[in-house]
Amino acid sequence: MYDELLTQLSISKRIVFFTGAGISAESGIPTFRGEEGIWQKFRPEELANFSAFMRNPKLVWEWYQYRRKIVRDSLPNPGHTAIVDFEKYFDVTVITQNVDNLHNRAGSKKVYELHGNIERNYCVRCKKRFDYKEFPDTESPPLCDCGSNIRPDIVWFGEYLPQDQFAASEKAAEQSDIFFVVGTSSIVYPAASITSIAKSAGSFVVEINIAETEISNRVNLFLKGKSGEILPEILNQLKMKSL
Ligand code: OAD
Repeated sequence: MYDELLTQLSISKRIVFFTGAGISAESGIPTFRGEEGIWQKFRPEELANFSAFMRNPKLVWEWYQYRRKIVRDSLPNPGHTAIVDFEKYFDVTVITQNVDNLHNRAGSKKVYELHGNIERNYCVRCKKRFDYKEFPDTESPPLCDCGSNIRPDIVWFGEYLPQDQFAASEKAAEQSDIFFVVGTSSIVYPAASITSIAKSAGSFVVEINIAETEISNRVNLFLKGKSGEILPEILNQLKMKSL
């Protein structure tokens, strides 16, 4: 069924998985867009930017505490674990737009986080870092020793991506033999530009999504379906071929 892909895999060493909210959908974490998406129910301009936080820190903090609870109650799904299993055969890099920490919890070794991580926080003034577990049930944003608010370590609208994570992602994309784009609408920049970097560098680009996206007609292979089903199936076929 995946003959073309298996042939490519047989001549590949470095694989990148570039993931978005869709890979965590089967863990029960809502995506951002689409009918059931987060941005249908909440307004990003009231919640996901720095001025909203400074205007109403309690509201924004509560919203992240609510999302943290969803994440803490969720488990990595077969899509996440299949990516870990690919490490038995390839040099694997995960580049994720997700903040849910599920790739790390699944056990992926090399994960670059382009949009932050909901499990972490930092002080808006002195930048001191704090783990989520330090104040699991706090309804209002806790204060740092320096007296300022502590915010979630999430890249909000209008903010720069972490430059070290982005630079490392660009390099991994350039060096990849196969570049999987999994469960992302590919419309949020600059994160989405990583796929073009891989493509221009000659990587074989494979998209896995339940629906076509803006990039589907530009990839080398589009596989329609759930990542939690397709990724384990690719791995199964790979194992059978290697036996
Ligand atoms: P989106 O919500 O924009 O897109 C999710 C994609 O996943 C869609 O293309 C769905 O068709 C697909 N999808 C859903 N379930 C799937 C499944 N089981 N298997 C495979 N695909 C599935 O989410 P992102 O592309 O991740 O930014 O959004 C990008 C960024 O926009 C997020 O990182 C966030 C948001 O604003 C920040 O928080 C900074």
